[in-house]
Amino acid sequence: MTTIPTLTEGRTTIRPLRLRDTRDLDAALSENRSWLRQWEATNPSGFTSHDVRGSIRSLQINARAGLGLPFAIELDGRFVGQLNVSGIAYGSLGSATIGYWVTQSAAGHGVTPTAVALATDHCFGSLGLHRMEICIRPENGPSLRVVEKLGFRYEGLRRRYIHINGMWRDHFCFALVADEVPGGVLRRWREGLVPPGQGSVPPEALAESARSLPW
Ligand SMILES: CC(C)(COP(=O)(O)OP(=O)(O)OC[C@H]1O[C@@H](n2cnc3c(N)ncnc32)[C@H](O)[C@@H]1OP(=O)(O)O)[C@@H](O)C(=O)NCCC(=O)NCCS
Repeated sequence: MTTIPTLTEGRTTIRPLRLRDTRDLDAALSENRSWLRQWEATNPSGFTSHDVRGSIRSLQINARAGLGLPFAIELDGRFVGQLNVSGIAYGSLGSATIGYWVTQSAAGHGVTPTAVALATDHCFGSLGLHRMEICIRPENGPSLRVVEKLGFRYEGLRRRYIHINGMWRDHFCFALVADEVPGGVLRRWREGLVPPGQGSVPPEALAESARSLPW
């Protein structure tokens, strides 16, 4: 079992997601259905579960197996979303993937980039992981801003990569390796030291993603 820490920066806190978050999570998901739907991972079999408690439990089981870190995101002490570190691989890969969402009313306060920076610094500093990845649909402007702010490097276009809102969707992939942020992601961002353009999608990649596929 990997210990999941509570980490705070300014008004933003990330802490372990708990079973007693069920009610807040359920309320946030129902109130933000249309806000979240187009970015939500779906099951290719068509099966949809509304078992919020069950979903927290399965994230916790995954965490106990050392494969993930399920965080709740708080703004001023209120539950406003989730940040999930998933697919943790130790050893010669030393990597993991980050996913996130916040409620519509919490959007625009810099909560997510702060949460991502805190989680990434924890994964590099305490877990000893080497590479953190974030994958985003080309259409998701607000999420692309999150990686741009933090300077996650654009790595490429993954065709039909994740099943989102009922279909396999293309994603842009971004990553950081520990060596490029020796002082931490949060500090680099806060001190305005993110290399200009590092988190941007190159124009040719935007053009490629807009091209329709022959299959
Ligand atoms: C993407 C998302 C996580 C960004 O989180 P956030 O905490 O609002 O991040 P920020 O405050 O840094 O805002 C990022 C950008 O969102 C946009 N934004 C700000 N307020 C907004 C609002 N009320 N509504 C929509 N977009 C908004 C702005 O472009 C902002 O960039 P800016 O700060 O340069 O103006 C959030 O919009 C969200 O949860 N969306 C729905 C789920 C989702 O897309 N998850 C990610 C899948 S990869």
